[in-house]
Amino acid sequence: MANQKVAVIYYSWSGTTERAAQAIGQQLDVDLIKLTVAPTTFSTDMYATSAIAQQQLNANQLPALTTELPDLNQYDLILVGGPVWGGTVSTPVRSFLTQLSDFKGIVAPFYTDAGTPGQYEADFKQLLPTVMTVRPGVSLTQPTSNTMKPWLKAVCQ
Ligand SMILES: Cc1cc2nc3c(=O)[nH]c(=O)nc-3n(C[C@H](O)[C@H](O)[C@H](O)COP(=O)(O)O)c2cc1C
Repeated sequence: MANQKVAVIYYSWSGTTERAAQAIGQQLDVDLIKLTVAPTTFSTDMYATSAIAQQQLNANQLPALTTELPDLNQYDLILVGGPVWGGTVSTPVRSFLTQLSDFKGIVAPFYTDAGTPGQYEADFKQLLPTVMTVRPGVSLTQPTSNTMKPWLKAVCQ
């Protein structure tokens, strides 16, 4: 679609998803928006972070985002990036998805993982019950042109 306005909105705990977001930014004219949480929210240790995220899910208490988000309905397409945590969508990305309940455009996920993405895509879609168009996602752990370009072409059409 010509002249569409695209945002890449992502959370990254250890930098891999950030690199994927930047790789997309080199291919497309996008607004890159990094989601952040208060620095004390998670640990620097992966296992401790995993336990904190699990507690957040169990208690249904998603972490507050410290990012000031623009008006999201100015975008035709939002590419939402994040790491796979416990085979599903990380809690900061879940916090962001709650902001999309009135979004009128198209959404597509990209994610990075250590080889076991689990239910990421199915869960992502389920977390957006009011968004009409959620396009298929992609794992961009190693964002090569072979993985990224066909996906961008498919989601941008
Ligand atoms: C809390 C936590 C849970 C994770 N769970 C999974 C998982 O279930 N499956 C997987 O393949 N990788 C898992 N990983 C690895 C990350 O998904 C992977 O390293 C990702 O690329 C990190 O992205 P980031 O650097 O943007 O945070 C986990 C990492 C963390 C910190």
